[in-house]
Amino acid sequence: MERILEVKDLKIQFDTEEGTVYALENVSFHLNKGEILGIIGETGSGKSVTASAINRILPVPPARIVNGEIIFQGKDVLQYKREEMNRIRGKKISMIFQEPMTALNPVFKIKEQMSDVIMHHQKINRKKAVKQATEMLEQVRIPDPEMVLDKYPHELSGGMRQRVMIATALSCEADLLIADEPTTALDVTTQDQILALIQDMRKNLDISVILITHDFGVVAEICDTVAVMYGGSVVEFTDIYTLTKKPYHPYSNGLLKAIPPVDQTIEKLNTIPGSVPNLLKPPPGCRFHPRCENALEKCKIDPPSLTEIEENHFIACYNPIKGGEDNE
Ligand SMILES: Nc1ncnc2c1ncn2[C@@H]1O[C@H](COP(=O)(O)OP(=O)(O)O)[C@@H](O)[C@H]1O
Ligand SMILES: [Mg+2]
Repeated sequence: MERILEVKDLKIQFDTEEGTVYALENVSFHLNKGEILGIIGETGSGKSVTASAINRILPVPPARIVNGEIIFQGKDVLQYKREEMNRIRGKKISMIFQEPMTALNPVFKIKEQMSDVIMHHQKINRKKAVKQATEMLEQVRIPDPEMVLDKYPHELSGGMRQRVMIATALSCEADLLIADEPTTALDVTTQDQILALIQDMRKNLDISVILITHDFGVVAEICDTVAVMYGGSVVEFTDIYTLTKKPYHPYSNGLLKAIPPVDQTIEKLNTIPGSVPNLLKPPPGCRFHPRCENALEKCKIDPPSLTEIEENHFIACYNPIKGGEDNE
């Protein structure tokens, strides 16, 4: 299978007035062409920093890339010059965010904004660009594209704005779409529609997707593979089936157990005791050890590296759940 993206041992820090933020450490995963990779983790676990690093929109400084490679279509994007990266961003890698309002300009109609983006990447005139925008809006199942094109962003619902963002991202025929919590601000019905849309696009346009979320339900619904992040590190990386049936990392297992079952009412939600680490002063050793039931002495001293323990199943843990907990 063709590998479109491989992130290898990424380590990123931020230099701030309060001190160094040890944001990413031991971040590795890969994405095969045409697949959807989920990145899941709690707030502050490093998901957006990872996404921004891939698309090279991280503010450097304060960010500092200490180590790692981001191999996209065979080349390390971290080695690209600014101009080279400007050609790739938007053209080969597109990104959508949780709040489309931040990416849309409030004073221009959708028509202008979408056609501007299209004209930036293709040598065509305004009229052709608007026609292409209309077609893309149809692709994202907007029933009346002309009407939407004639509106300002604030005149559209959140779900509609997110569709416009996806259409804009896809109008450049990018090979990789990075969606950073694209459905978090939406109601459940609209969320399902947007997820179905991303899945459709993957099929019809042969695009590869990184879907970032803090919601395991979202990951389980449409992802092929999953990277679980905790405290700035990838702690487990495998296919969705293996992860839900046989997680090895105690944190992944805790996350899975915290999902409320759909078919029954429960008294108390299972949560992992403790709180996420402050990355200004992360715990030594494994960053999860203070919350981990399986922690050994070694875990407090030496951070485990991400290792392939079975084919395509990677974990960073010295004392994994034996044989994987069976979640049948
Ligand atoms: N510009 C920045 N300056 C300093 N610290 C930052 C900056 N951006 C992110 N961080 C830190 O990096 C860590 C990971 O953040 P982020 O990737 O946004 O988390 P997530 O998207 O998983 O919620 C957090 O501790 C956050 O405070
Ligand atoms: Mg984020």
